[in-house]
Amino acid sequence: MSENRVVLRVENLKKSFGDKEVLKGVSFDMNEGETKVIIGPSGTGKSTLLSCINMLVTPDEGKIWLEKEEVTSAKNINRIRQEIGFVFQDFGLFNHLTALRNVMVGLTKVKKVEKEKA
Ligand SMILES: Nc1ncnc2c1ncn2[C@@H]1O[C@H](COP(=O)(O)OP(=O)(O)OP(=O)(O)O)[C@@H](O)[C@H]1O
Ligand SMILES: [Mg+2]
Repeated sequence: MSENRVVLRVENLKKSFGDKEVLKGVSFDMNEGETKVIIGPSGTGKSTLLSCINMLVTPDEGKIWLEKEEVTSAKNINRIRQEIGFVFQDFGLFNHLTALRNVMVGLTKVKKVEKEKA
């Protein structure tokens, strides 16, 4: 069997909102090809944890690495975000755009893909 290759590492992640401590030092590794499921009651920090992984929420403490790159100290976080798929719990579509334009906007604005191709 081939050795496990860590693609994502989360180390001692902490996050509070005011005096509410939501993440109390979360650590885990994700190996290549692995699937992990996070289960817990509403309000226990599942979305907060996932949002920290691409820095949509800034952790108070702890470190995150994607491949060999430290996400938590990245200078160009938007480049790293392009490598991370994220389905929002509450979808955030642009009201002034059609469904098709909503799908296209990330590709054309961030990835600079031509309109026709997008
Ligand atoms: N931006 C924020 N400001 C203040 N409090 C927040 C913020 N985001 C989350 N919280 C609080 O942090 C806690 C964890 O929220 P989170 O959304 O991560 O929970 P969850 O496990 O994803 O819940 P659910 O199962 O309902 O999706 C909750 O008490 C929530 O009210
Ligand atoms: Mg959630």
